Amino acid sequence: MIPATGESIPVIGMGTSGSFEVDAAGREPLQEVLRRFVAGGASVIDTSPNYGNAEDVLGDLMAELGVRDRIWLATKLAADDRAAGEAQFAQSLKRLRTDKVELLAVHNLRDWKTQLAYARELKARGKTRYVGLTHYVDSKHAELADIMAAEKPDFIQINYSVSTINAEKRLLPLARDTGVAVMINRAFDDGRLFERVAGKALPGWAAEAGVTSWAQLFLRFVISHPAVTVVIPATGKPDRQSDNLKAGRGRDLSAAERAELVAMFA
Ligand SMILES: NC(=O)c1ccc[n+]([C@@H]2O[C@H](COP(=O)([O-])OP(=O)(O)OC[C@H]3O[C@@H](n4cnc5c(N)ncnc54)[C@H](OP(=O)(O)O)[C@@H]3O)[C@@H](O)[C@H]2O)c1
Repeated sequence: MIPATGESIPVIGMGTSGSFEVDAAGREPLQEVLRRFVAGGASVIDTSPNYGNAEDVLGDLMAELGVRDRIWLATKLAADDRAAGEAQFAQSLKRLRTDKVELLAVHNLRDWKTQLAYARELKARGKTRYVGLTHYVDSKHAELADIMAAEKPDFIQINYSVSTINAEKRLLPLARDTGVAVMINRAFDDGRLFERVAGKALPGWAAEAGVTSWAQLFLRFVISHPAVTVVIPATGKPDRQSDNLKAGRGRDLSAAERAELVAMFA
């Protein structure tokens, strides 16, 4: 649930960094990735103008499948001044083949004062429903927390996973206390977590929690935190998309299960 409005969104979304930066031949599996996503009842997709051609690919595939109205679309401002932000957002709308987005976030706090003010103007004009701030490394959490406390954006997007739990210290409790929705990137630590579990069995309690893969377990860990609104794992592979979507069905992990996972990946 998004505190600013009470709107509900599905907890499993998807990212497009890398996975949607493809040439013509690479688009075919992505159409199936998107088809399964929508068929599974998911909707939140995160992209950015600086993810190569990802906005173009996503815009084309949404149009081909006729699903734009079923997608809760998030993109970003990654610019260094007002004029560049304006030009970039106009271009994003064209590339995404839409006239508005659901979330517009300032990428990695870049020129954040100017870009957040511009995003708020766009919100007032109905061009985005929410505004946000993003980052993806622990070393920027303190700065992001200070800005979040002062500015109270609708959303933050941050990194959080079984192996990177720094967000639990201040950002996640603060977001919860101040009513800021939280989108999680890098739930698989950019894929590195899979190397660490190669050949390893799931914990004994996983089946009872409705979890049948490590990907589902990593995602369930993230969405079990009470401050987390949505997680955006990225994949270009249809079967992995189906796997990731399954993480959204089942109970939250207990405190003891969460602690066991953290200890395993410390
Ligand atoms: N500053 C920012 O705003 C920021 C920074 C980082 C990320 N993000 C957003 O967050 C999204 C997610 O982060 P991320 O892409 O960096 O990393 P991630 O989601 O933690 O990991 C992606 C990696 O996991 C693999 N993977 C996905 N599902 C899998 C599964 N079920 N089984 C095995 N492997 C799987 C993918 O490989 P395959 O593609 O081969 O399946 C890819 O290599 C990004 O796409 C982007 O939208 C935003």
